Amino acid sequence: MHALKYDFRSDTVTRPGAAMRAAMASAVVGDDVLGDDPTVKQLEARAAEIIGKEAALFVPSGTQSNLIALMIHCERGDEYIAGQQAHCYRWEAGGAAVLASIQPQPLENAADGTIALADIEAAIKPDDPHFARTRLLALENTIGGKILPSDYVLAATALAKRHGLSCHLDGARLFNAAVALGVPAATLAQPFDTVSICLSKGLGAPVGSVLVGPATAIARARRLRKMLGGSMRQAGILAAAGLYALEHNVERLSEDHANARVLAAGLAQLPGLTVTEPQTNIVFVDVEAPIAPDFVAHLAQHGINVVSTYGATRQRWVTHLDVDAKAVDDALSVASEFLLRQQCAPMLFVTHTTYLHRFDKGPRLCTPTIFL
Ligand SMILES: Cc1ncc(COP(=O)(O)O)c(C=O)c1O
Repeated sequence: MHALKYDFRSDTVTRPGAAMRAAMASAVVGDDVLGDDPTVKQLEARAAEIIGKEAALFVPSGTQSNLIALMIHCERGDEYIAGQQAHCYRWEAGGAAVLASIQPQPLENAADGTIALADIEAAIKPDDPHFARTRLLALENTIGGKILPSDYVLAATALAKRHGLSCHLDGARLFNAAVALGVPAATLAQPFDTVSICLSKGLGAPVGSVLVGPATAIARARRLRKMLGGSMRQAGILAAAGLYALEHNVERLSEDHANARVLAAGLAQLPGLTVTEPQTNIVFVDVEAPIAPDFVAHLAQHGINVVSTYGATRQRWVTHLDVDAKAVDDALSVASEFLLRQQCAPMLFVTHTTYLHRFDKGPRLCTPTIFL
């Protein structure tokens, strides 16, 4: 086990800093299940205001927020349309089906994260007793770190509404999209009936999400949260972290995006890697198959964690509050040390004469120190 120095696995790994902890420690609290916690109320009011909806509900997790949204919009036996890669379909343990008898209708995501409008239209079932009733279109922004094109969102939600569907946005990283585009989060949220935002991702709070939407929907959500075991008592301690995050950690997401760009540009220079240019704070890196396991092990040995479970050769690096520009520089040094050594590895077997001959010809891909 090697000491962890920089954790690039996800923006969920951030730990609250001193100022956030101070805000938590001094929070005025009450029993929120009885409606008595002023700090929770303040967070809900602020989130509703920022996202531009009537009301909001503080919930323990993004998973629960999405599930409650699906349950608001769909009855048992209804279905929702979502991307194959959508968190609310793929990564939430099938909760909608298990806990709410809601059937997913997953559709292929294109490389940019969109779902083809024709596919959405074709998947909406006619009103016929043979079929589940299609009730909801659920989109995600950002999705895999990519920003959904705004005209696409308008077209997809307009299509859904024409067919009588509601629209939910998993906006776990909506603020990343808003900051990258330089538009208010409310503008990106506007076409949706309900929006879930996460405080515990790039915003750096330890716990919590907020579901926002019309007052009637949020009143139902409050009942569903209770049913799902998500109502919390003196939750103002957690809400205080969320409030702090909304006030202090939104604009700084641009630093994470800049760090991600530097990281991606640096990795792209290295042999054996193919890097997808990031739009926000998530960098996907494809590693040549023969070196992929050793590369992850080398990073881990040097205290650098990345997610390497996106297929055998795909890594995900995420920038966030707890990995700064120096962390990126250090990670690039560690990565290049391994990858340049791999590139030079065949030369280690050449004869001394050949080595000298090659070296005499001046610097090549390897620096002399790598031969030592
Ligand atoms: C896009 C997206 N939505 C929802 C969630 C669920 O959030 P939580 O882990 O708080 O349940 C995540 C978690 O990483 C996510 O990435």
